[in-house]
Amino acid sequence: MEFWTIPRTTQVTEVVAVLTILVLLSTNGVESRKALANDYFEYSAISCRTHSASLTDFGGVGDGTTSNTKAFQAAINQLSQYASDGGSQLFVPAGKWLTGSFNLTSHFTLFLHKDAVLLASQEESEWAVIDPLPSYGRGRDANGGRFISLIFGTNLTDVVITGDNGTIDGQGALWWEKFHKGKLKYTRPYLIELMYSDKVQISNLTLLNSPSWNVHPVYSSNVLVQGITILAPVTSPNTDGINPDSCTNTRIEDCYIVSGDDCVAVKSGWDEYGISYGMPTKQLVIRRLTCISPTSAVIALGSEMSGGIQDVRAEDIVAINSESGVRIKTAVGRGGFVKDIYVRGMTMNTMKWAFWMTGNYGSHADNNYDPNALPVIQNINYRDVIAENVTMAARLEGISGDPFTGICISNVTIKLAKKAKKVLWNCTDVAGISSAVVPQPCGLLPDQGVEKITSCNFPEESLPIDNVQVQMCSYQRKYL
Ligand SMILES: *[C@@H]1O[C@H](CO)[C@@H](O)[C@H](O)[C@H]1NC(C)=O
Ligand SMILES: *[C@@H]1O[C@H](CO)[C@@H](O)[C@H](O)[C@H]1NC(C)=O
Ligand SMILES: *[C@@H]1O[C@H](CO)[C@@H](O)[C@H](O)[C@H]1NC(C)=O
Ligand SMILES: *[C@@H]1O[C@H](CO)[C@@H](O)[C@H](O)[C@H]1NC(C)=O
Ligand SMILES: *[C@@H]1O[C@H](CO)[C@@H](O)[C@H](O)[C@H]1NC(C)=O
Ligand SMILES: *[C@@H]1O[C@H](CO)[C@@H](O)[C@H](O)[C@H]1NC(C)=O
Ligand SMILES: *[C@@H]1O[C@H](CO)[C@@H](O)[C@H](O)[C@H]1NC(C)=O
Repeated sequence: MEFWTIPRTTQVTEVVAVLTILVLLSTNGVESRKALANDYFEYSAISCRTHSASLTDFGGVGDGTTSNTKAFQAAINQLSQYASDGGSQLFVPAGKWLTGSFNLTSHFTLFLHKDAVLLASQEESEWAVIDPLPSYGRGRDANGGRFISLIFGTNLTDVVITGDNGTIDGQGALWWEKFHKGKLKYTRPYLIELMYSDKVQISNLTLLNSPSWNVHPVYSSNVLVQGITILAPVTSPNTDGINPDSCTNTRIEDCYIVSGDDCVAVKSGWDEYGISYGMPTKQLVIRRLTCISPTSAVIALGSEMSGGIQDVRAEDIVAINSESGVRIKTAVGRGGFVKDIYVRGMTMNTMKWAFWMTGNYGSHADNNYDPNALPVIQNINYRDVIAENVTMAARLEGISGDPFTGICISNVTIKLAKKAKKVLWNCTDVAGISSAVVPQPCGLLPDQGVEKITSCNFPEESLPIDNVQVQMCSYQRKYL
């Protein structure tokens, strides 16, 4: 069956049945308790698989202390032979599965039982060190290499990481402490990273306490992220939720994120490295996202945006106790662009700034950035926003001699906090229009008047990623 043309009739349904029968078996007069189980799961995915195995078939032990790194890698190596024969799925049963990093393969599904918890190893030796991303030139925490992600894949096609809301626990506390104390030689690992991959689904999982970013698709296309819960202390360093980075055609929906950094951070490389790599993030859809991020943004564009960011459509966003709703972060030396950004329908409560954009973010990869590489920020549209308990409506700081243009803000009601700032809109080096916005925006976004209320743009035609369908797949297993 052609992967991208699955009919719409296949719908997600509930897990149909999980039968677990515990029986007492008697062997050699010694009574031992054994599970006679018949596991049957249904899940929705971009493609189903012909071959199945369980981690326990490869010596996996779910006791929370035995390392399963070898079991995962042995299982996936074995299953990779089925890539051209209907693909394969690896089931992770209920239990606590301590593991270091492992690599995925193509035409492959990793499925986590709802009571399966992957516990990320805290031993640095369980994590290979890989090269920095070419579009970043260096690791973000330290010069040079970076620890590979817990679940890693590169140059793959058709990969699914899903579950019945099973858990991946990064056990990040030790990494955060090492980071704060400057004790890391390399950049911290992420929980899930797919590089140079096409047709990726990451869905129905809970991600806890990542050492750093949670979900990082990079140089990839046709990426579906659905039904992910991400939880990390709001004080934890750089625990971004989902970071599409130099990706084309990505859809993020129905996610709930509480973290110490941006809930969704859209990226495309850093300064001169990102400019020369030149790979934008484009055609990105974000819907039904709920975010709590007291020191960061619900959706950040940048600050690493040197390959460009174009055509981002965000809808039905809920923000609670976050610093800003949408923030565009850039700097002289970044080059690149952020253009054709559309946000429709945001509800926010307890915010420092409803909107923030800055051309003065700094934070350079090194001192070799080109001071003449000015970012182009253009055609930014925000509409249908209600915000309460807001300290300052907006901070919009463009770059002198390189203004941010084509900003449109319409149908926005911002209710202020008791301790709101005196200046509610601070705008410099920006240009645009507004309509039906309360409180009244700055003079650089002149009100178009009630007679000709114009809604800011939001494209009506769909993107290719909107047409990707999922189908019901199943996993069945008999234990004897
Ligand atoms: C996983 O892939 C990375 C990058 O290709 C490689 O450095 C690492 O050795 C691989 N790990 C294993 C266990 O094969
Ligand atoms: C992965 O794909 C990238 C980009 O196409 C290519 O440069 C790289 O050599 C590939 N790596 C492997 C291991 O095939
Ligand atoms: C998944 O688990 C998380 C953490 O326990 C919980 O907050 C969330 O509501 C669950 N999601 C679903 C869809 O059951
Ligand atoms: C996966 O999550 C979606 C919400 O994103 C939900 O509609 C669906 O029922 C879930 N599927 C399973 C198999 O849990
Ligand atoms: C309003 O925001 C302030 C922080 O600026 C917070 O302390 C307070 O609890 C919020 N009030 C409500 C009603 O949410
Ligand atoms: C204004 O935005 C609200 C949601 O914040 C929406 O319900 C309403 O329909 C919008 N009005 C117009 C005229 O678009
Ligand atoms: C407004 O923003 C500019 C930077 O663009 C800053 O220098 C200035 O202090 C701000 N003014 C207020 C009143 O916050």
